[in-house]
Amino acid sequence: MKNAKRKEPGNQNLKSTDSCLREFFVDQLKDIYWAEKQILKALPKMKKAATSKELQAAFEDHMTVTQKQVDRLEKSFELLDEKAVAKKCDAMEGILSEGQGIIEETEEGTATRDVGLILAAQKVEHYEISTYGGLAQLARTLGEVKVARLLEETLAEEKETDETLTEIAENDVNYEASEESGDKYPQRRAS
Ligand SMILES: [Fe+2]
Repeated sequence: MKNAKRKEPGNQNLKSTDSCLREFFVDQLKDIYWAEKQILKALPKMKKAATSKELQAAFEDHMTVTQKQVDRLEKSFELLDEKAVAKKCDAMEGILSEGQGIIEETEEGTATRDVGLILAAQKVEHYEISTYGGLAQLARTLGEVKVARLLEETLAEEKETDETLTEIAENDVNYEASEESGDKYPQRRAS
């Protein structure tokens, strides 16, 4: 589709303040704003639950990054002349509660728990990648170029975090977990 002729409404003066699409876009920004704030609360718990030093560092690093992403969303609301309001995101609530479930179901100090934490964190990242990718595109369609740039900056960070998590899994955690004794999970072996 690279050569297909695309309309570039961002180049036209389409900064309408009351279109349905704009309303939808702002609503979706509120949704990811809520999600980011919840992620900010979940990350210290994930770091505490992790055993691998690399994974702990990745979660720690992502706390700082996430705070910047929250700030960028607030800046986006400001640019759009909208109030920064968080609106509950059911999808992120589900993904984060699944992550909490992994912590509860796995044993402390095991690589198996780290594998679960990475999987949970990557589900978060993939949700964010699809959201920011779509929203950045919508921002361009709406002619909100500055907002689009902010969203694209965050999108790049989410992709980077996802790659870091893959590296940690591939380089140590997955193998270590495969070597872990199964008798830590007697109830699973019995079923
Ligand atoms: Fe994020």
